[in-house]
Amino acid sequence: MKKVYIETMGCQMNKSDSERMFGMLSHFDYEQTQDAKEADLVMVNTCSIRQLSEDKAFSLIGVWGQWKKTVKPDLKIGFCGCVAQQKMKEVFRRAPYVDFVLGTHKIYSLPEIIKKINAGERVLECEETHKTEDAKAANFEINRVQGVNAWIPITEGCNNFCTYCIVPYTRGRERSRTPEIIIKEAKDAISAGFKEITLLGQNVDSYGKDFATKSKDEASDSQANNETNPLENYRLAQLLRDLNAIEGNFRIRFVTSYPTDITDELIDTVVELDKVCEYFHIPMQSGSSEVLKKMNRRYNRETYAKIVKKVRAKVPDVTITSDFIAGFPGETEEQFEETLTAIDEFELDYSNTAAYSPREKTVAAKWVDKFIAEEVKTERLARLNEKVRENCLKSNKKYVGRTMEVLIENFENHKGTNVITGRTRNNKIVHIPHDTNLTGEFVNAKITGTKTWYLQGELV
Ligand code: SAH
Ligand code: SF4
Ligand code: F3S
Repeated sequence: MKKVYIETMGCQMNKSDSERMFGMLSHFDYEQTQDAKEADLVMVNTCSIRQLSEDKAFSLIGVWGQWKKTVKPDLKIGFCGCVAQQKMKEVFRRAPYVDFVLGTHKIYSLPEIIKKINAGERVLECEETHKTEDAKAANFEINRVQGVNAWIPITEGCNNFCTYCIVPYTRGRERSRTPEIIIKEAKDAISAGFKEITLLGQNVDSYGKDFATKSKDEASDSQANNETNPLENYRLAQLLRDLNAIEGNFRIRFVTSYPTDITDELIDTVVELDKVCEYFHIPMQSGSSEVLKKMNRRYNRETYAKIVKKVRAKVPDVTITSDFIAGFPGETEEQFEETLTAIDEFELDYSNTAAYSPREKTVAAKWVDKFIAEEVKTERLARLNEKVRENCLKSNKKYVGRTMEVLIENFENHKGTNVITGRTRNNKIVHIPHDTNLTGEFVNAKITGTKTWYLQGELV
């Protein structure tokens, strides 16, 4: 057996792609190792969302290139993921020690690539535009990271073109995977012992919109035969119903929601279905309507407020988390403060934050004269993080004294005390002192206290 190491950067979509790549490689006598130094094949699955993540990927392959030059001449190196998709030719030309470059649109060609590189070739495997076969071929075997939660991508790509964001360029247009494939993957994960499935997509709540506008050929075929398209109205709510019907004790989550794509039907479905958890990740990006407009987000502060209020009114104990960018080009101090007030006003439980990073090809990257100075961005990001911290603690305090169902994910020793750690249905982390490993079990915990990022509890 040869050994393969994959360093995964970026979002869950990349993590899920890495699991699929491990799955494909297991058929080529490769076993997974956690130590890059003992690997015969090292791969990096890259992220381009910010300059920092891109720089990390390049410095990592630089290190691997050195190993190859000095101590491991037979080492094979692969460069995959979003940076590969975007800078494929440049990487191939400038890093001669890289054996293959594999973009996000063609991960299913990994087996072919492995044959070629083992025969001594260098391979550049990227497509500039996405072909529909990819979605069909997406039924690969998966070597999931062991644990409690299984990621299942349901859509890939994005049609929104927010002016700061590179994802539409690295992942292509939005494509939904068929319900059959998703349901099969979910059933497999549950029978393999996973206790939670998380449906993934850049915008999960637009799942299925592309079923109604399938390729022209397919559409005219079905018209000729007078057929109706059975998936025409199949959306996330229906998928959740079908997944909820799978037998077993498990939870269902979905991320990420685009605010204006959250339908009433979806909210009602979350309330109605017992396995679907009370948790929405709804990135707002900025609290200022003017900034949102410049970001090309299709809502303003008021519409976001309405959506969040509706979700809170209908879904008891719901957790709502968000993403925010500090220092978008042209953002004034007042506009930035609107982001801080939004976090308070909408009682956002937690938010991911980042300083704006200009990305090649995107619209906002051209507004150089409006760029905010680095030190101002850093200072705003720090204030933003402080606000996030404050609100997380505030929201956690609501649960002190309550008894909540916790799915245990971890067993660790914290400074001499054994602790089991898990999540509530509404995605709050709970630490419980306990001497046996209950990973994978659902327990009831009484919440006795809280720290900033997690609740403290005891078993009942
Ligand atoms: N589809 C999701 C976001 C995916 S990208 C949505 O629409 O909300 C994940 C997060 O990265 C974004 O929510 C945004 O906050 C951040 N991000 C994206 N591009 C960025 C950039 N150029 N600079 C800083 N943060 C960025
Ligand atoms: Fe990026 Fe906007 Fe698409 Fe989200 S919706 S992935 S932020 S372009
Ligand atoms: Fe990064 Fe690509 Fe995900 S750019 S955030 S790994 S879709």
